[in-house]
Amino acid sequence: MTSQLARVITIERFILDQEELIPEATGELSNLLYDIALAAKIINSHVRMAGLADIIGSAGLINVQGEVVQKLDEFANATMKHALLRTGRVCLIGSEEDVDPVPTPPGQAAGKYVVLYDPLDGSSNIDVNVSIGTIFSVHKRLSPDGGAGVLADCLQSGRDQVAAGYVLYGSSTMMVYTTGQGVHGFTYDPSIGEFLLSHPNITTPALGKYYSVNESYFPRWDARVQSLMKCYKGLDCGYEPKTSRYIGSLVADFHRNLIAGGVFCYPADSKSPLGKLRLLYECAPLAMLCEQAGGYASDGHGPILDIVPTELHQRSPLFVGSRDDVRLAEEMLAGPRP
Ligand code: AHG
Ligand code: MN
Ligand code: MN
Repeated sequence: MTSQLARVITIERFILDQEELIPEATGELSNLLYDIALAAKIINSHVRMAGLADIIGSAGLINVQGEVVQKLDEFANATMKHALLRTGRVCLIGSEEDVDPVPTPPGQAAGKYVVLYDPLDGSSNIDVNVSIGTIFSVHKRLSPDGGAGVLADCLQSGRDQVAAGYVLYGSSTMMVYTTGQGVHGFTYDPSIGEFLLSHPNITTPALGKYYSVNESYFPRWDARVQSLMKCYKGLDCGYEPKTSRYIGSLVADFHRNLIAGGVFCYPADSKSPLGKLRLLYECAPLAMLCEQAGGYASDGHGPILDIVPTELHQRSPLFVGSRDDVRLAEEMLAGPRP
C-alpha cells in the first residue's frame, strides 16, 4: 500500500513541485491554479447530478453570444467568479457568459492576473448526458497594479498567456493545464476529492488518426475547405484516410485528438465568416496547450497564438491538433480562392 501511496501525486503537490522549478515564482499563480481546481470540483459535483438537481435545461436567458443560457452555464459561471474574484490574485475576469469583463468587487484587493474562461463548453450536450467542459486562459495584467483590471488587460495575444487549461467532465473528470512547462493531465478521484496526476507530459502525434468537423456545413465552406476535408478522408490527395469523430463539445473533441492524434476544424463559412469559436477563451488556451504538446493551432492562415484580439468575444476560425494535419490546412487554404 505504501508504494502505491508514494506514487499518488495530487495536483496541489504537482503545482508546488513545478513552482519550485522557477526561482522567481511567488506562489500566486500556483494558488490561482488551485482556485480553478476547486471551482472545477464544485462544477463537477453539479454536472454529475445534473439530471437530478433541477440544473439541466434553460435558464430562460439569452447571452451575449445570442445563445440560450443553460442553468449549468450560469452555475459554472457563478462558481468560477466566486472562486476567482475574492482571492486578491485576480484583477479581472472575462467570461463567455458576461458581455463585459468583471472586475474585482469594490474594497476587494485586485491581484496581478486576468482569467478568461468558457465556464461550460458544449452546453448543447448537457441535457443529453454527453461530455462537456470548462476552458480557461490566464494572463498577467498590463494595467498598473492596485485597482481593478480593465478591458485592455484581456486583449493580449495567446502567445502572452502564462497558463491555459481545461476541465473535461467526461467518463472521468480530468483537469489538463500548462504553465509553459509541458502539458499535464489530472484525473479526479471522487473518493478522496482530489485531482491525481494521471497524464504527465502529454505530447500529441505529428499526424493524427482523427479529423473532427461539423460536416453538415459542407455546403457553406469555400472550395478550398471542401478540398481539405476530402484530403482528410483520403480522397484526391494521397493522404492517409482519417476517422471522423465529432461530438459537438470542443473540449471533448480536442482532448481525444490531443491524446490519440487528430485535427479539430471549425472553419469560416458563408454564414459565420469568422467561424463560431471565441478566440480569447476557446481558441487561444487550446492553442497554447496544443503547441506545448508538440501540435499546432491556426486560423487557417497563421498561428492562433499570434492574433492580437480587439474584442472580448471575437471569433476565429480554428484548425488545431496534430502539427502536420494543421499545416496541410494552411497549405490548402493558401491557394487562390476558386
Ligand atoms: P459553448 O457551449 O461554450 O457555446 O461551445 C460550443 C461550441 C463547441 O463546444 C463545439 O465544438 C461547437 O460549439 C459546436 O458547434 P456546432 O454545433 O456548430 O458544430
Ligand atoms: Mn465553448
Ligand atoms: Mn460555453
